[in-house]
Amino acid sequence: MQKRNRLYSAVITGVGMYVPEKVLDNKYFESILDTNDEWIRTRTGIKERRVLEEGATSLLATKAVEDLLKSTNTDPMDVDVIIVATVTPDMFFPSTAALVQDNIGAKNAWGYDLSAACSGFLFAMQSGASLVESGQYKKVIVVGAEKMSSILDYTDRNTAILFGDGASAVLLEPSEDLSIGVQDSILRTDGSGRDTLFMKGGGSLRPPTHETVDNREHYLYQDGKAVFKVAVKGMADVSVEIMEKVGLSSNDIAYLVPHQANLRIIDATARRMGIESEKVTINIAKYGNTTAGTIPLCLTEYYRDGKFKKGDNLILAAFGAGYTWGAMHIVWGID
Ligand code: UT7
Repeated sequence: MQKRNRLYSAVITGVGMYVPEKVLDNKYFESILDTNDEWIRTRTGIKERRVLEEGATSLLATKAVEDLLKSTNTDPMDVDVIIVATVTPDMFFPSTAALVQDNIGAKNAWGYDLSAACSGFLFAMQSGASLVESGQYKKVIVVGAEKMSSILDYTDRNTAILFGDGASAVLLEPSEDLSIGVQDSILRTDGSGRDTLFMKGGGSLRPPTHETVDNREHYLYQDGKAVFKVAVKGMADVSVEIMEKVGLSSNDIAYLVPHQANLRIIDATARRMGIESEKVTINIAKYGNTTAGTIPLCLTEYYRDGKFKKGDNLILAAFGAGYTWGAMHIVWGID
């Protein structure tokens, strides 16, 4: 295994999550769109998703971080950094991280938002881990939070059924035991994929006007078929690449923790890695695609279900808009 030069390892020492109470099941979409439960389940693996009726992404993120602080008995005054991965920030500025910092009373923390769509949590983990590994920061919170319902066109059956709202957070702390925590990652960006998955309006390219609203430019657009093809290849390739880079065989891996966009993409990735389905974290049926939220939601639920043991090798993998994609090897560090 190729060893990286670092003073400390960044270890996940706690997890937290929040999903809103309101459930939209596939039957609901049958009532508003030309779709059906069978199509949605067999093409995506999704049965239902959560929707936040009042409030914004910072509310979801704050509740997830509060759950994390409570379950780890962490004083907000001890938090050094908050990184929020999101494509649905409350506003362009200030950052959602600033709103979370204020909401939880983390008076000594600084933070920022990170935009890498469905790969946002992985990219934010790499950033957070680097801050911890250098020895400069001791408590870094990495959040994946999305109110996807705020950018969904509920008249578009191609996208409306896919996404959901939710947030989840992890605490990264330094350990002198380099055999646990974040071990390595491979992260990629290819902006030539910009035309297949994007939100055209609202930014400096197409500032909001009556015309952009009339053209429905403030909603997420996806060419599903085009993204599907590159996602299957991208996520599978990078997952095999990280296994080779860190010298792990499929037998060494306790769990693949994939982004939850489509069960068929997850299955294809696991097959390429030689990993049986029992060793893949899956909760897409309950939450749909929560973009930056999917991986930490899986980590939180599977850890709390007692599935991860200290020393377990986990491979996290994602693919999303940009394109952005990547994989990360983590050795689970909590008993
Ligand atoms: O998370 C970030 C990255 N995103 C992804 O990884 C998503 C990648 N893409 C996908 O997961 C899949 O492409 C989708 C789930 C979005 C679509 O599945 P698909 O098997 O690729 O379907 P398709 O887009 O090729 O559409 C097949 C047919 C079309 O009808 P025609 O043209 O064959 O008559 C669609 O109009 O299914 C139709 N269709 C639907 N039918 C019922 C599309 N959406 C629906 C729907 N209900 N909700």
